[in-house]
Amino acid sequence: MSGKSFHVQPGGALGGDIRVPGDKSISHRAIMFAALADGTTRISGFLESADCLATLNAFGAMGLSHELDQGARVITGMGMRGLRAPAAPLDLGNSGTSMRLLSGIMAGQAFDSVLTGDASLSRRPMKRVIEPLWQMGAHIEGRDGDRAPLAITGGVKLNAIDYTPPVASAQIKSCVLLAGLYADGTTRVHEPGVSRDHTERMLSAFGVTVERDGDTVSVAGGQSLTATDVAVPADLSSAAFFMVGASIAPDSDITLRGVGINATRRGVIDVLLAMGADITLLDERDQAGEPVADIRVRSAELHGIEIGADEVELAIDECPALFVAAACARGTTRVTGAGELRVKECDRIAVMAEGLARLGVECHELEDGIVIVGRPDAPSFSGGSIASHEDHRIAMSFAMAALRASGPVIIDDCDYVDTSFPGFVELAAQAGLGIQARATE
Ligand code: S3P
Repeated sequence: MSGKSFHVQPGGALGGDIRVPGDKSISHRAIMFAALADGTTRISGFLESADCLATLNAFGAMGLSHELDQGARVITGMGMRGLRAPAAPLDLGNSGTSMRLLSGIMAGQAFDSVLTGDASLSRRPMKRVIEPLWQMGAHIEGRDGDRAPLAITGGVKLNAIDYTPPVASAQIKSCVLLAGLYADGTTRVHEPGVSRDHTERMLSAFGVTVERDGDTVSVAGGQSLTATDVAVPADLSSAAFFMVGASIAPDSDITLRGVGINATRRGVIDVLLAMGADITLLDERDQAGEPVADIRVRSAELHGIEIGADEVELAIDECPALFVAAACARGTTRVTGAGELRVKECDRIAVMAEGLARLGVECHELEDGIVIVGRPDAPSFSGGSIASHEDHRIAMSFAMAALRASGPVIIDDCDYVDTSFPGFVELAAQAGLGIQARATE
């Protein structure tokens, strides 16, 4: 990728009526399940981002045919056993969801495959999927046992397992359940905490029987998927930047249309409300098996709170944005139970602490979280230069901080924003952020 940085002018307010792009988690699953289904699936609202296109291209390399029709992705399913051996390693770029979910699918195929990714993805832990897949009888090897590339041997018989992941993770759960569709017997995952349930919901929509009993999810092997149309909601994780921006910038009033508010994901709404945010959910409705709403956010005086593991689980991807909100709140915010943030696209605790400190905010890293001392009287931030560490959510979180800064905020390596939010600069500028993308090379 060529270098691009964000230059964000201080101050301003967010307003208007906008729709952020489609949900990343749901878009990945829509491609995967459509590819494995019998029949044709039309996916509207698909997130045309680098991560989701990595999933689409991986299936393309296994023979999937797909087309764009009036903005929708139309996929001709190949059935559970219809994928063909790829000629080369499948490059999943920056996308952890693609790699972890695909590892479960590839473990059930008749052919060998190799899953690779970029430098960031190659640093992220993969033992969490390798371990349960070995228990199922799969042959999967990682570099140094825990890292990508992953080499998966096909033609292996899988057996159902009862598995308790070491951490609450939708990616691990989904990997095991998808491998479970290829296994003999019923595979059960006992969740140690709440994780997003898009896989369960969408598999059901594709005609698979998925059972939930308390914290246990199970699927019987040998089931097939039947194509169904998918309408992808707007991504709450992308909406979160605007929710935080509108909360902290005086005189803001913004409405975000058609956003997914799935109970296993909506932590950012509840945490902001607990901090005193002015958020109203309008026209709550169901869209293809997922709850959605329009979200109106107006500026508010925020106050610091305690955020523990239960809240973090429901807002894991929104933590960087929430840390920016905490920096503008009255009092101290203490976040614990967030150790998983250290193994995302970067170490999001260390990188957020570094960036907040660069902008003059007092904060202290904890092993599994952070303590942030809010500066409620604007400006809450100084201007300054931020290293995004090639992490899309770090870049977008600090872009919003400029709304309460005394000088310009400049953020490096922002190309990665396209992994989840193509068009962020244009949409944020339309909403009132003084943002420009500039080429750095
Ligand atoms: C995702 C699950 C989460 C999340 C990631 C997307 C998914 O990861 O952080 O951005 O689509 O299943 P974990 O399952 O590892 O918590």
